[in-house]
Amino acid sequence: MICDNLSIDENGHLLFAGQDASALLRQYGSPLYLMDEDRIRRNCQTYYAAMKDAFGESALPLYASKAVSFLEIYRIIKEEGLGVDVVSSGEIYTAAQAGFPLEKAYFHSNNKTDADIAFALEQGVGYFVVDNEEELFAIDRIAGAQNKTQKVLLRLTPGIDPHTYEAINTGRVDSKFGSAIETGQAEEITSLALKLPHIDLAGFHCHVGSQVFDSDTFLRSAEIMLDFSAAIRDRYGYTVRELDLGGGYGVRYTEKDPVIDIAANIHGVAKAVKAKCAALKLPLPAMRLEPGRSIVADAGLTLYTVGTIKKIPGYKNYVSVDGGMTDNPRFALYNASYTVLAAEKMNEEKNFLCSVVGRCCESGDILQEQVLLPASIRRGDVLAVLTTGAYNYSMASNYNRIPRLPIVMLKGGQNRLVVRRESFEDLVRNDL
Ligand code: LLP
Repeated sequence: MICDNLSIDENGHLLFAGQDASALLRQYGSPLYLMDEDRIRRNCQTYYAAMKDAFGESALPLYASKAVSFLEIYRIIKEEGLGVDVVSSGEIYTAAQAGFPLEKAYFHSNNKTDADIAFALEQGVGYFVVDNEEELFAIDRIAGAQNKTQKVLLRLTPGIDPHTYEAINTGRVDSKFGSAIETGQAEEITSLALKLPHIDLAGFHCHVGSQVFDSDTFLRSAEIMLDFSAAIRDRYGYTVRELDLGGGYGVRYTEKDPVIDIAANIHGVAKAVKAKCAALKLPLPAMRLEPGRSIVADAGLTLYTVGTIKKIPGYKNYVSVDGGMTDNPRFALYNASYTVLAAEKMNEEKNFLCSVVGRCCESGDILQEQVLLPASIRRGDVLAVLTTGAYNYSMASNYNRIPRLPIVMLKGGQNRLVVRRESFEDLVRNDL
């Protein structure tokens, strides 16, 4: 199976983190997200240990909490010692409510409002990752009004086009994020940051893309960022203290996705970064990575109950479930691949080709095309969609007034609700 927290018991049932997935659906109701706490912790430990070993004590992984954000996840991340990447006042608020030490929070976003900036400053967010000059002026002004000096990283675009989904490419010159090195805007914002009285320039940030399976993009972006840092040192006498290379490695949605050794990759990047620093006579900056997907994706799966099965002779078959694009919009948005399994029929032959679709009034509400399920699949069966821990709950919606799903956390044979199911009352809570 695609991850070692999945197995099959003697009854042909899918086990997740050692627990019978369909039994959990019967206990907590359908549909349902499950998360494997041990797996989240192991993923954190992989990045934490590899970064400390490879880059030294000053290095730190930051969990990109846009991947999934709720109170308990920040508590786990805090215990594992990682920092966090937050992208909105809402994520900052959630982290604060969970008791997360916000001095280890890095506040992203290409458009922070004055209210966001004031809120983050009041909450004591450690770092702002600054997108553009207008934002830098606003932070300087608002920090000044609060009698503070704010540490910042400048988000730069190194101009790299990784081989990934177009919609999630962010390191190119024409990206909506950051200031481009190629156009000279990166240097302009750096010289401005060095002048503004309430700004403390800690270093530089870049993020090239998501779901990458090798270190190629990290190596190329690190090289460009270090060359830029050396040029800045030569021109302005400023030495970069922190270098943040952005999001983490890819995950396995299907058997086709490669298995990668994250620790070995981080060691490879460290070797190249150290050699480059030595060549440029730059002290090694405190290194940051911001993995989101690879911390939580394979620690999650979604369970559904099969409803209508529609066979259109000569065309195609549909298996409908009681969720869909409202809990997982990634196929609709990115044509993303997923593995779909019949959770109580794991040992049956799979020869029924179908599209697994949701319950929304929208033809694009598809979870996956070209799925092979057992021919005995019928109403009431349980389906599991694997690797849904990242960008599913966090991108969920109430389209068609469908309540959001609960999250059940599994740990060492125990399970507990960490996000409750939305109720119909929740749906009308803000309606007047
Ligand atoms: N840092 C920055 C600045 C980012 O923009 C992102 C992702 C990350 C870190 C985390 O990257 P990760 O390790 O998760 O690959 N909704 C899309 C993903 C959008 C990612 C945006 N930025 C999806 O469902 O695939």
